[in-house]
Amino acid sequence: MSRNADRTTVRTLDNASEDLQQMADDVRAGLLSDPKDLSPWPKYFYDAEGSELFEEITVLPEYYQTRTELSILRERAPEIVALTRCQELIELGSGSASKTRTLLDAMTVEQGRSVQDPARYVPFDVSESTLQGSAERLVEEYPALEIQGYVGDFDHSLERLLARPRSVNGFRRLVVFLGGTIGNFTPEKRREFLGRLRSGLEEGDHLLVGVDLVEDPRVLEAAYDDAAGVTARFNKNLLSVLNRKLGGEFEPDLFDHRATYNPEESRVEMWLDSKVAQRVPVVALDLEVPFEPGEGMKTEISTKFTHESVAEAFDEAGLQLLGLYTDEENLFGLALGEPLSDTGPYSPR
Ligand code: SAH
Ligand code: AVI
Repeated sequence: MSRNADRTTVRTLDNASEDLQQMADDVRAGLLSDPKDLSPWPKYFYDAEGSELFEEITVLPEYYQTRTELSILRERAPEIVALTRCQELIELGSGSASKTRTLLDAMTVEQGRSVQDPARYVPFDVSESTLQGSAERLVEEYPALEIQGYVGDFDHSLERLLARPRSVNGFRRLVVFLGGTIGNFTPEKRREFLGRLRSGLEEGDHLLVGVDLVEDPRVLEAAYDDAAGVTARFNKNLLSVLNRKLGGEFEPDLFDHRATYNPEESRVEMWLDSKVAQRVPVVALDLEVPFEPGEGMKTEISTKFTHESVAEAFDEAGLQLLGLYTDEENLFGLALGEPLSDTGPYSPR
């Protein structure tokens, strides 16, 4: 066993991504709704191919989100780490964890930890391939870091993840949820998720959530309809996932990718519009899904926030918003919060 193998583990917390019955139920509900709507289940985008396509999206010129969030983190990570005094960083939907290095740098180098007194990084993602890759890279790069990765689904295992024993000396934890992924949840799911997250946090813990902010609809729509067509491939890959996992016979070429900003709901919506009249068999669902020419199927929502809507979402969940760090153009924000105590206003230590 190598020295690094001692410092890194990747465990499976649940097998939800293998739960074909659950997927069949979700997809059936989505295909039978009017309009057809698969957006309540964003996790199905992230098979190995979808995760790679998302990584390609993050470096597109039109997709300002990743580089903007990175620039905020570069500037603010030392301050965030100093303020939260965190020793354990738990990252939900960690993906390639590329931006997380800013926080890990601040936790390890700047606090001068040694191998004997390691900081801990706990990435959590439904995509095993992505998680394994990032854990292997990070353990090489950070000699003072212990990595405990978990493969799992927020819907099933958030509580178990947060209930893990902290450590003998009770690490303070910072839970981060970057990239604006919270925007991919429906409002009901977002409320439920933040509430469950709040319940799993204890005094001394903090939460850092990346949120994409409302801005010019043209900028937003371009970010989800790039000239190189990568987002279109990401969107159509969902059809390949349905084909592979549920015996669907979707022809991705018979659908057009479309991204529109919906101002009433403050969100970008991705759709797949059928180019022709067609009936698509999905064997595992025992369904033949009819499409009119031009009929759209909603595949993803990506909600955009304002300072007020972030504050409201935190407040509803019993979280105290300590600050919203933004870039100069107010394109993206990082909301830092802590749990409000059950007995009244939470008093800072
Ligand atoms: N945080 C990264 C990745 C964002 S992409 C960034 O900011 O760039 C969204 C990530 O969330 C993907 O890695 C995807 O696999 C993960 N994800 C989506 N739904 C999930 C779920 N239900 N449970 C756990 N991870 C999920
Ligand atoms: C992961 N999530 C925040 C991305 C977003 O911007 O909503 C997913 C994505 N969809 C299309 N492009 C990127």
